[in-house]
Parts: sequence; structure tokens; C-alpha cells
Amino acid sequence: MNVIPIELGERSYDIEIESDSLSRVGVSLASLGDASRVVLITDDNVEPLYGEVVSNSIVDRGLDLDVAVIPAGEESKSIEVAYELWNQLLNLKVDRRSIVVALGGGVVGDLSGFVAATYARGIRYFQVPTTLLAQVDSSVGGKTAIDLPQGKNMVGAFHQPCGVLIDPIVLQSLSVEQYRAGLGEVVKYAASLDADFFEMLENNVDSVVKRDPDILARIVARCCQIKANVVSQDERETSGLRALLNYGHTFGHALETVVGYGKLLHGYAVALGSVLAAKLAFRLASRGDERFKEIDQAWIVRQNNLISALGLPTTLQELPSIVGFEPNIAPENLVALTSTDKKAVAGKLNFVLPVGLGKSELVRDVAVEDVLAVFN
Ligand code: GLY
Repeated sequence: MNVIPIELGERSYDIEIESDSLSRVGVSLASLGDASRVVLITDDNVEPLYGEVVSNSIVDRGLDLDVAVIPAGEESKSIEVAYELWNQLLNLKVDRRSIVVALGGGVVGDLSGFVAATYARGIRYFQVPTTLLAQVDSSVGGKTAIDLPQGKNMVGAFHQPCGVLIDPIVLQSLSVEQYRAGLGEVVKYAASLDADFFEMLENNVDSVVKRDPDILARIVARCCQIKANVVSQDERETSGLRALLNYGHTFGHALETVVGYGKLLHGYAVALGSVLAAKLAFRLASRGDERFKEIDQAWIVRQNNLISALGLPTTLQELPSIVGFEPNIAPENLVALTSTDKKAVAGKLNFVLPVGLGKSELVRDVAVEDVLAVFN
């Protein structure tokens, strides 16, 4: 088993990565100690696949178990579904010794984490991520949230899980779209924070596309290690380091909001957002901004080539065929949404932009005209 620690003082925990490990969830929970009741939150896609093996592993350790199944999809990251779950926890007499287990992708993890963060002013939760996106990013680091109609992840809390157990074998059962969406986050790590990792992906595109189990285990571990390093140094995104994990996200969230939650998968939006961030950096470079001098046409082509080799979009023109309708992606609309992003301060437009291969910076106060230009 590969164990990656997240060092956060009394909030420290381990990410355990091991193939075929879903039947060990109960062992990991029991090892946390002092657990009375477990509430397993999952969705109606994941429950038929892995609900039984995880439930059995929990009951086998002598823990009391209840299961809550939510509808699959981004629409469930809502106040209505959170309210239902709060009520279920109350009816089940969940207390501070109970543990919520999130079994599923980013929606289940973010929502369950938010419910755990807020119920009784905070109870423990444990992440068992089943999508690539959740395994490499959202299950680690304690960001929990629900969406508002005007903005993704706008209501939430930092609340670290008490553990994360990752079984990379489950990635074999993902749909092509869900798998590619996770690759959008993988490219984000490589392009913005780790040049060696970027080259490793370039050299192994075929194996990645074919979901070679060894490559997948390496990718998941590498992303979790990067995230562990970042989160251990900047848990609450105050120094600017953790903000770098939002490469591609400011544009990406705007696209998701405009197109409609659940219609454009988050990782696709991040991939397109990364392309737009690179275009913005290139524009600033061509105006003589020294910070971006390494971002030339060759850099842009290199990132685009990797993104499209992994089956992800690199142009806004591809959106209609991905979502099945003509979204209203008017530049003014998209720019307005980037200013409600959580990185915005006092209405100023802030972006994570590339400054080299595997290097990025949080850039404050970008001019609206420059942002408008990248959409044209
Ligand atoms: N997904 C970015 C972060 O966790 O900070």
C-alpha cells in the first residue's frame, strides 16, 4: 500500500492508495478509533457497483451502518440535498463519534464533506473517491462545498477528512467522459506545478488513454503527493500556493456556470480553462510582461497537444458537440462570471497563469480587455 501523509498538526491524516482495497474501508475506519455509527453517503450510480462491498467491510468491523443514496450529478450539490442529509443525520441520531463516509466522485465528496462540516458544528468524514477527478483532487485537502445558481462551490467550508482510501482499480469502470474529465485535473497539476510529470504524461499518452493500471496508480499517487505538499503548506489558501491548484479553474467555473451545472463535466471545463489561461499569459507576454516570457507559441501548442491527445477539448467551438446544444458563451457573460470567482478580491480579476512548464503564478488585477481578448 502507498501511504501519503497530509501533515496538518491535529488535523493530519493519511491517503491510502491500494488496488482492490474497497473491502478494507471498514478496517481503515476502525483504525481511526472511537467510532460508533457510520453513515455511508453515495449516489445511485456508485451504490449498485460498490455499495455492497464497502457496506460489508464496515459491518464486518462491528460498526453500525446506515446508507444514504443521492441522485448522481452536479445538481445534487444543492442546499436542498444538503438539507435532506442534515435531516437524515438528525433522525439517525448521528453524534460527534459518528463518521460520514463519502463513496463516490467529486459531487458526493464535496456535498458529504459540507454536510459533515456543518452538522452539529462539524463531525468526521472519510473519503472513498471512485472517479479519477476525485482520486487526484477533490477528495484530498478538505475543500467542501455546494453550488449556488450563480456560482459553483460558492457555499462551503474547509473541513479536512479523517482519512482517504483510494482504489485505482475502480477507474476501469468509469465512462470515457468521466475518465477524461479526471485527466483534465491531471494535466492541471502537470502544466502548472510539475514539468517532469508533464513529460511523463506526454511519453505515456497511449497507456494513459488505455487506462494501464500501473500508469494509473503512478498518476494518482503523483497528483496526491503534489496536493499533499501544497495543502500541508497552505491549508486555507492564504499564501497563494494552494491557489495554484486552481489553474484553469477561473475560466473553467465560468464555462460550467454559463453552460449549466452537470452539462459540462468539471474536468472538461478545467482543460478548456487551462487553454484560455495559457492564451491570456501569451497575450500578456506579447505585451512585454517579463513574467510570462517563457509562454510562447510552442508552450501553447505543447499543452494543447497533450490535452487533445487525452481526448479533451482545446477550443470553445467544440462545446456544442460536447454538451449537445449551443451554449451562450458571449465573452461579456464569461468575463462577468470570472469576477465572481472566489479568487476575485474587491471585484478585481485574478487568474492562475502559467509562467513556464510546470510553473504558475497567481496574477492579480488582470485587465478586462485582456480577458475579453482570449475569448475572441
Ligand atoms: N481543487 C483545488 C484545491 O483543492 O485547492
